[in-house]
Amino acid sequence: SWTADSIIDEQVAKIRQQVGDKKVLCALSGGVDSSVAAALVHKAVGDQLTCVFVDHGLLRAGEREQVEKDYASITGIDVRTVDASEQFLSALAGVTDPEQKRKIIGREFIRTFEKAARDLSAEKDIEFLVQGTLYPDVVESGGGTGTANIKSHHNVGGLPEDLKFDLVEPLRTLFKDEVRTIGLQLGLPESLVWRHPFPGPGLGIRIIGEVNRERLETLRAADAIARAELTAAGLERDVWQFPVVLLGDVRSVGVQGDGRTYGHPIVLRPVSSEDAMTADWSRLPYDLLSRISTRITNEVREVNRVTLDITSKPPGTIEWE
Ligand code: XMP
Repeated sequence: SWTADSIIDEQVAKIRQQVGDKKVLCALSGGVDSSVAAALVHKAVGDQLTCVFVDHGLLRAGEREQVEKDYASITGIDVRTVDASEQFLSALAGVTDPEQKRKIIGREFIRTFEKAARDLSAEKDIEFLVQGTLYPDVVESGGGTGTANIKSHHNVGGLPEDLKFDLVEPLRTLFKDEVRTIGLQLGLPESLVWRHPFPGPGLGIRIIGEVNRERLETLRAADAIARAELTAAGLERDVWQFPVVLLGDVRSVGVQGDGRTYGHPIVLRPVSSEDAMTADWSRLPYDLLSRISTRITNEVREVNRVTLDITSKPPGTIEWE
């Protein structure tokens, strides 16, 4: 569209002017904002841009592939994946407290990103860091600009002195719907552009109790089924988010096949919301909920019970942790 084209042209010119022939770094999260920001920067300065994608082992099924294969091949961006799942999982071993989990994941994220930034800086002289800051983020944080500070949704603080970059923030004047329009105009797939928000700590805060490989596999499988069925029903855009939660420390008796089982419950938490500050539970059609329940209990061995969270926010938060 005309508006999207003119915003893109304007931002591309601004980025070129700011960056010149210098090198640029971007941390991709797999979400809409960082993906569109990086695509804009790439359109402006091509392979002066390098992206880092941290796989913390807490991603949903197919997410890493979406970034590495689909996104990278569509945009032509040089994406470097850092596989840090071992590191994150051993740091999380035995931890059950939600805030503790967030702290650990945030700390490990910054460590991993710092190391990647240092390695890349040794390879090329990087001066800029891309951030997918939107207009509402700017307003919320008082409008300040400045040096590098990975966006709070990654739950990380500032970077050390020797890794200070100037920020490139091509989405700073835009609202979410404009970012989506631009994303589509840049050729990014609808599945990415309309992606639901996903928390930085990932599935780590959707497993109640300790996070481990086996539980992650269980949750990932259940989550993929819920998402696929929601999409197949054409209702993806009707819900704000659809967290799927594994009650890792709870077991209940069930009967599957020939015998009694003692498995873990899954909680479905579809919500409608405008901005995540308040939310209501989504009235998804019973037949959709039924398909999700049947498939999860049939296909995911560890799960013998599927429940629906019917709490609004407040009093319940969207996430369980
Ligand atoms: P709650 O659970 O507080 O969530 O109702 C509100 C919104 O924030 C997301 N969320 C997070 N995002 N890091 C993030 O990047 C976090 O630690 C985190 N906790 C919650 C949640 O998914 C919802 O969109």
